[in-house]
Amino acid sequence: MNSFISWIGGKKLLRKKILEQFPEDYDRYIEVFGGAGWVLFGKEKKGMEVYNDINSDLVNLYRCVKFHPETLQKELDGILMSRELFFDFIQNARGLTDIQRAARFFVAIKESYGSGLDSFGVKPKNMKKAVDFLSLASERLSTVVIENLDFEHLIRTYDRPGALFYLDPPYYETEKYYPDRFQPEDHTRLKKTLDEVKGKWILSYNECPEIRNLYDGYTVISVERPHNLATKSDSKKYKEIIIKNF
Ligand SMILES: C[S@@+](CC[C@H](N)C(=O)[O-])C[C@H]1O[C@@H](n2cnc3c(N)ncnc32)[C@H](O)[C@@H]1O
Repeated sequence: MNSFISWIGGKKLLRKKILEQFPEDYDRYIEVFGGAGWVLFGKEKKGMEVYNDINSDLVNLYRCVKFHPETLQKELDGILMSRELFFDFIQNARGLTDIQRAARFFVAIKESYGSGLDSFGVKPKNMKKAVDFLSLASERLSTVVIENLDFEHLIRTYDRPGALFYLDPPYYETEKYYPDRFQPEDHTRLKKTLDEVKGKWILSYNECPEIRNLYDGYTVISVERPHNLATKSDSKKYKEIIIKNF
């Protein structure tokens, strides 16, 4: 199934190729850099599943979709979107309940250009359809553990021989989109953490010599995808790599 949101760096267009790499033999699945969770929503339900992201607005939205879909849908029914409200929503509003905060964040993602949360997208959206879909998303998330941890802490907590991690970190040289959350030196911290993992892992990255050098010795698979915001006439392809430890 599809995710209930789109997200910068979301793997909607690459998830088929990522899922093709999944092994048969795992009993827990951990999506470390969750975002919109396109791979989680695309995979079969199996064993214990964990969604994680360090962004607390996003994790609050996931928790509200999982535990209170109807209350969230009711809150969303009362929101009529406009450019003025969009800019109000992306300001840090204090004194909101978790449901109100989740509703504002959901609308801001839906209404921003390319889900970037910084400019109002002018394309009309079918908000009713998006809100109705939250019930299905809630059902899929009902057995998923939701975490809000830094990747290193999360990996060490859930690692064991039967684990399968999927990791989609901020791409090399895109760290500026994740201020305070992911620094350039975190690519090396991630590699060091992954070197010690007892389970299996699959990692996606942009194609670049720095990441190829960093993961020298692991299996690296080259893949291509269209641009996430591509129009029908734009046939330009982007090169990415999938790295794995098995
Ligand atoms: C490229 S996006 C993941 C996109 C996701 N695969 C999808 O399909 O939408 C990277 C995510 O990593 C999260 N992130 C950044 N730094 C992190 C950290 N130190 N620990 C855990 N998550 C982090 C960001 O908040 C962002 O949502």
